[in-house]
This record gives sequence, structure tokens and C-alpha cells, in this order.
Amino acid sequence: MQYLAVLGRQPEISLAELQAQFKDVHKISNKVAIFKNDQVPDTNRFGGTLKFAKLLTKMPFDYLISLPEGKITLGVSDYSKKPSKKRAENEALKLKRTMKKRGRNVRVVPNKTPELSTATSHHNQLGEKPRHVELILVEKTWYLSLGAQNITAYAKRDQARPARDAKVGMLPPKLAQILINLCGPLKPGARVLDPFCGTGVVLQEAALMGYTPYGTGLSERMVEYSKKNLAWLASTAGNSANISPRSARLAGLADRAITPVKTGVIAPVASGNINELPAVDVSQGDATSYTWSAPIDAVACETYLGPPMSTPPVDIKLKTAKQECQTIILGFLKNISTQITPGTPLVLAIPAWLRPDNTYSHLNILDEIANLGYNVEKNFGRNNLLYARTGQVVAREIIILRKK
Ligand SMILES: C[S@@+](CC[C@H](N)C(=O)[O-])C[C@H]1O[C@@H](n2cnc3c(N)ncnc32)[C@H](O)[C@@H]1O
Repeated sequence: MQYLAVLGRQPEISLAELQAQFKDVHKISNKVAIFKNDQVPDTNRFGGTLKFAKLLTKMPFDYLISLPEGKITLGVSDYSKKPSKKRAENEALKLKRTMKKRGRNVRVVPNKTPELSTATSHHNQLGEKPRHVELILVEKTWYLSLGAQNITAYAKRDQARPARDAKVGMLPPKLAQILINLCGPLKPGARVLDPFCGTGVVLQEAALMGYTPYGTGLSERMVEYSKKNLAWLASTAGNSANISPRSARLAGLADRAITPVKTGVIAPVASGNINELPAVDVSQGDATSYTWSAPIDAVACETYLGPPMSTPPVDIKLKTAKQECQTIILGFLKNISTQITPGTPLVLAIPAWLRPDNTYSHLNILDEIANLGYNVEKNFGRNNLLYARTGQVVAREIIILRKK
């Protein structure tokens, strides 16, 4: 089946994530890519994709008329190279009129833009319920949306966690998913290590994706935060934070039956005492010297990023931050290189700093990394896999490595 992916705010990163997971992904514009796959892609697993859609093999009217009785909610998005709000609106109204003649009621979701935003699609449950439909037009081809990113669940996973620390600059859950997916296809239950685990966002997302999270970190306090957050996650299994009981068991987060709680509600950690919940694999350890337990199937992490900064640093401050980060990152890669098997993927978000001229200053470590026994994926220009909000001083550059 042919699928369409609507790429996120940073299309090169979204595309890299898809290419790591599917074969022959073709970018057809800055907004969309197409690929063929046997299985239906799961929107909840791809931080970089806003919507997945499948090729519509019927004409839109024939599809709509084949839907079960009852009122239809219809949205139309135009993702063509030259998108037109008018075209999207006209197509939707034309379908509404034709359906009316056949005695079927259609509510059209108004277009503020040619493409319905993720929020509009999600809040109207387009692609999520049988008679809630989003038709996507790309030039002359129609696709049927399989649902937009569940922004409500992402926000809950980001904000409702009990242990948060603004100072360590928590990783957005979407970016954590991207880092994990960039490791390539992993077997269910694969053990994913984050040696700079902080508050545990990568561990949490790995668990949700059905992998076994394994975390270590320098600070005892952060390790406790990670444990607390994973325990909270296990306690929310089956609800809108989107962890299925199966994923929870696979990830070792729960060894007993989990009673799903009502959708839309996040349950608090049962008793507040994490010792009563199943043990999770998180320990204190310095990534430059720690001995991890096998197996390590993949490494996905946001490394130490240096001190937080709100304005572009002066040269001396930048030099110190770079030196400090470089020592830790290279020290970690040297330490782990003898502990992982050839072919193990490592995806790291490392710092890059905004300069007053609006360019980014990168760590100059790729050659040294190669000398430590890693293949560095060089398909991407360095600025392409740079994850930064506008004006953010410490950005995250994604590097993809594989143990030789
Ligand atoms: C940018 S934060 C990671 C935040 C994390 N992704 C989260 O979800 O909260 C980097 C973390 O690396 C830790 N760290 C710094 N030096 C380290 C080292 N040598 N070994 C292990 N962890 C280290 C810091 O304590 C911090 O928690």
C-alpha cells in the first residue's frame, strides 16, 4: 500500500526518521513524502510526522458514500506544491452537495489554511473515527488520513510527569521518538540505553514504543526523577498517555495486569511510593567510565549540552562550553565502544550554539568519533538535522553513528 506522510516543522529531520524506518521514502515537496509499506504506519510512534494517510483507491465521493449510516464530518486538505485554500474548500463543498442529494449529511470542517492544522484534524478526530474523514489532495492524487498526531497525549506526557526539571531542559517527547526511530528498525522489546537519562524522556518514549528502557545518569537526583517518571508512566498504562498494557509488560514496566483507566485521565502514581512499583532499570553512573550490562541493542540520548544560555555566548564562554561537552561526549563514546557489538546504532543529540550572526557553531568532533571506531552517517548536511526553536541558543544537533 502507498502511504503519505505529512512532514513536521523540520522536514529534513522528519524525512530522516521515516527513511530510517521505511524503504524508498520519497520526498515530493517540503511538506510531504510518500512510501510503500505492508503494515499501516502508526502515527503515535513518529515524532516527526504530523499525519499519515493512505492512497485512496476510490474517488472521494465513492468512498464517502460507502461509509456506514450517520452524519459524516469531512475535512479536506490541499498539500499540493501550490496549495489553495479555495480548492480545498470547493472540493469539500462539492462533496457535501453531492452527498446531500443522496440523502447523506456532511459537516465540513472549515479551512483556515489550505492544509488543516494538526490541532484542527486532531480535535475533530479526523481519521480517528469511522465517519470522521480527512481527504488529502496532492496535485491530482487523493489520500485518506489515518489520523493526525495526538497532540493532547504528547502534551500530557510532557507536562503531567511528576518529576520535571526546567534546568536540564527536558527533551520534547517527539524528539525522543525521533532519536529512537533514527536507530533503525529494532526488535520488539529491544533494550534501548540512555546513558544521559536526566528526567527520563527517552526512557519513557522507548517504553511506549514497546522497547525496554535502560538508563544511567551522573546525578543521583536525576536518576530518582527518571525512576519516578517511569513509575508514573506504568501507572497510566492503558490511558491517553498512550502506553498499552502490552508495551508496559514488554518494557518491564509492569509485571502484573494493568487496569486501564478512563481515557483522557492520567492516574497519579498509585501510592506515591515508587518502591511499591516494579523495578525499572535506571542507575547512577558516569557515562565516561560506567560498565553497562548487556544487551545494549541501541543507544538513544541527548548528551550533556553545557550550561543553559539565553543569549548567544561570548567567544570565551562558548569555548569553555564546547570543551566541556566535547570531553564528556568523546569520553562516553570511547568508554562504550568496547561494550557494544558491531552494528549497534547510536543516535545522539549533541549541542550546537547560536552565534550573533544567526549561524550555529558545531562541535568539531566527527573525525574523532570515526577514529574511535564508529561509522558516522554523513548523508545529512550538519544543519539539516539541527533541532532548534526559533532563537533558541543551545540547539540540538542529531548525529547518527554505528559501531564498526
Ligand atoms: C541535557 S540533559 C538530558 C535530559 C534528558 N534527555 C531528560 O529527558 O531530562 C543531560 C544529562 O546528562 C547528565 N550528565 C552530565 N554529565 C554526565 C556524565 N559524565 N555521565 C552521565 N550523565 C551526565 C546531566 O546530569 C543531565 O541530566
